Amino acid sequence: MGALDGHRIVLGVTGGIAAYKAIEVCRRLVDAGAHVAPVMTGGAMRFVGRATFDALASETTQVSLWDEEHPVPHTRLGQGADLVVVCPATARLLADYRMGRSGDLLTATLMATRAPVVVCPAMHTEMWEQPAVQENVSVLAERGVTIVGPEHGRLAGGDVGAGRLADPVDILAAIDSILGSDGSTSGGDMAGLEVLVTAGGTREPICPVRYVGNRSSGKQGHALARAAAARGAKVRCVTTQPETAPDIIGVQVLAVETAAEMATAVLSNSATADIVLMAAAVADFRPVEVAGSKLKKADGTPEIMLEPTTDILAELGRNRSPGQVLVGFAAETDDLRQNATSKLESKGIDMIVANDVSASGVGFGHDTNAVLLLDRSGGATEVPLSEKHQVAAAVLDAALGCLHNARDAGGATGHGEDVNR
Ligand code: CTP
Repeated sequence: MGALDGHRIVLGVTGGIAAYKAIEVCRRLVDAGAHVAPVMTGGAMRFVGRATFDALASETTQVSLWDEEHPVPHTRLGQGADLVVVCPATARLLADYRMGRSGDLLTATLMATRAPVVVCPAMHTEMWEQPAVQENVSVLAERGVTIVGPEHGRLAGGDVGAGRLADPVDILAAIDSILGSDGSTSGGDMAGLEVLVTAGGTREPICPVRYVGNRSSGKQGHALARAAAARGAKVRCVTTQPETAPDIIGVQVLAVETAAEMATAVLSNSATADIVLMAAAVADFRPVEVAGSKLKKADGTPEIMLEPTTDILAELGRNRSPGQVLVGFAAETDDLRQNATSKLESKGIDMIVANDVSASGVGFGHDTNAVLLLDRSGGATEVPLSEKHQVAAAVLDAALGCLHNARDAGGATGHGEDVNR
């Protein structure tokens, strides 16, 4: 059964070069079980052919208010939709939708629906940064429209900047979180939440050239940051790998290198976080002294004294904000469940995400992962080998479960305080 089984989705495509990526979104929606009705504007058809959507979608592509057999096509589409997604959305679409103009089938369909709407803007940086465009997006967001992206990256014509269409994976995650497997349409299920994510492995300098490090790539932490933003959360991502961190609206990236820098960044940004996801591999020890110049072989084998670093997660566990959910990660090679359970308890956290990094395709550097999620109430969920974005979705689902339990209980993990802020 697909996550979107039975849901009727209108896929609006407007005239930008990113229209070709809507083909991938269409395919993924259909793969997830959705019934997809494509609606293209005239501009979109200059970039991609309707035949492509006809072949992939669940029904024929509609392009005009006047062509369809149904006498009132926009109401058929708008009233029948469980969700409308516009991908990509041009500056003109944003302006028309904001103003309530309905000059073509897509804008008329947007007017004729009460279903949730997801808008994925894509345009050149200069256009995206125009105050008029920004205002249109803000007004739409205030009205409850979910805005996904844009990202920073390569644009048409070789330019680089903000304005690239969000990754189809993130667009699907946003749709998934709105429609959900239970059919509820609650909006991005992390809207209004603040999430702090750490990612990557810390590097503890020995000298200006060498460091003590580990093999973490930051991919799982970054996947969590992207997924949380796609679900509507305001995300801060403290990472040792800023060059591969999600460069998207909704994620603030804080670059760090050492365990001490990560501790400072996390502890000074955690007070308002609803969920903290400590996916980073933080060094437990660092060299006591950092040599001022490169250690030379000729000087003989160096003796490097190490000292413990701050256990950031344990520190958070001791001083957490009311209602906050703390999630730790455990990369193990033996006794996965036992080691994870003892970390869950010793650090005073709500949930732990454990993986056996000796298994094939799991953990460090891979695009896939397999994890065991354990929570304090004894809940255990196994996520089999999956793409890291799918693991991220499962981790966020479980963390949200912890958050809701804590709030239902009147405060997190024994604090007993009102958690509504
Ligand atoms: N962690 C942390 N600060 C540290 C070390 C780890 O916040 N100085 C966090 C990691 O981000 C992760 C969890 O703690 O979420 C991992 O727990 P830990 O027991 O420190 O794991 P290891 O360092 O792998 O411990 P061990 O070597 O004992 O397995």
